[in-house]
Amino acid sequence: MSAAPTDLNAPASPGLALVIGAGGGLGAALLAQLEQDRQAAGADGRVMGISRSSELRMDYLDEASIRDAASRVAELCAASGLELRLLLVATGFLHGQAGQPERSLANLDEAYLRHVFAINTLGPALVMKHFLPLLPKRGRCVAGFVSARVGSIGDNALGGWYGYRASKAALNQLVKTAAVELTRRNKDSICVSLHPGTVETPLSQPFAKTGLKVRPASEAARQLLGVLDGLQASDSGALVDYQGLTLPF
Ligand SMILES: NC(=O)c1ccc[n+]([C@@H]2O[C@H](COP(=O)([O-])OP(=O)(O)OC[C@H]3O[C@@H](n4cnc5c(N)ncnc54)[C@H](OP(=O)(O)O)[C@@H]3O)[C@@H](O)[C@H]2O)c1
Repeated sequence: MSAAPTDLNAPASPGLALVIGAGGGLGAALLAQLEQDRQAAGADGRVMGISRSSELRMDYLDEASIRDAASRVAELCAASGLELRLLLVATGFLHGQAGQPERSLANLDEAYLRHVFAINTLGPALVMKHFLPLLPKRGRCVAGFVSARVGSIGDNALGGWYGYRASKAALNQLVKTAAVELTRRNKDSICVSLHPGTVETPLSQPFAKTGLKVRPASEAARQLLGVLDGLQASDSGALVDYQGLTLPF
């Protein structure tokens, strides 16, 4: 699949491309690549990022902040004539203050499990609730939720990482379910889960073993945007990787 610049003008009116999680390793790279593509294409659209530290602040642990951010984006679209044509959600949690991924059942910890589901599943679900209604009712529009291959149940041969795996599997189900609803509203809409591969970011840093193919975030962003450009409405609901391959759920 080629990494053609994302068409922010598709199909008729100028488009807004929005990245949620723009302060993360992958989110920042997606934002930068989209802006570069927009400038290279001389397009009228706009690229915008939201994170916990952006001016338009949004924290998954506070639904009001998600609702308010969506209202502000809706106001911006109404005032500028832009339509939200591309929504990318690049948030996620694997390790941090709330804990570390589990090696075995003995490591299961309620606080970690609650947090990993709050960030990987519940937050994106609330983003779906507040932001997906902002997608246009006509013409191609794309919502991509960054998930992970380890969320694939069919592909799980290694075990471990109970919370992260389960939270991403649940995210994939939410994406599939939202895709069905969105298609009823707009037959040209596309809503997918994305596997970025192993990417050099704070999330992967402690686990990036020698020999594993770890790619710079800028490369992963270019690849993912190229894949998104090539998706059809019939791909909606799928879990797609950075090479354009559809992965098993
Ligand atoms: N890196 C990899 O190798 C790899 C592999 C497979 C899948 N992924 C997936 O790729 C996505 C991006 O991860 P990354 O590698 O870029 O990790 P990262 O650099 O650690 O970024 C994590 C992102 O999650 C956001 N986040 C964390 N807690 C949040 C909260 N309470 N509310 C709102 N946002 C919150 C952060 O927001 P702020 O910007 O506000 O800090 C940041 O944007 C994740 O879904 C991850 O699971 C990554």
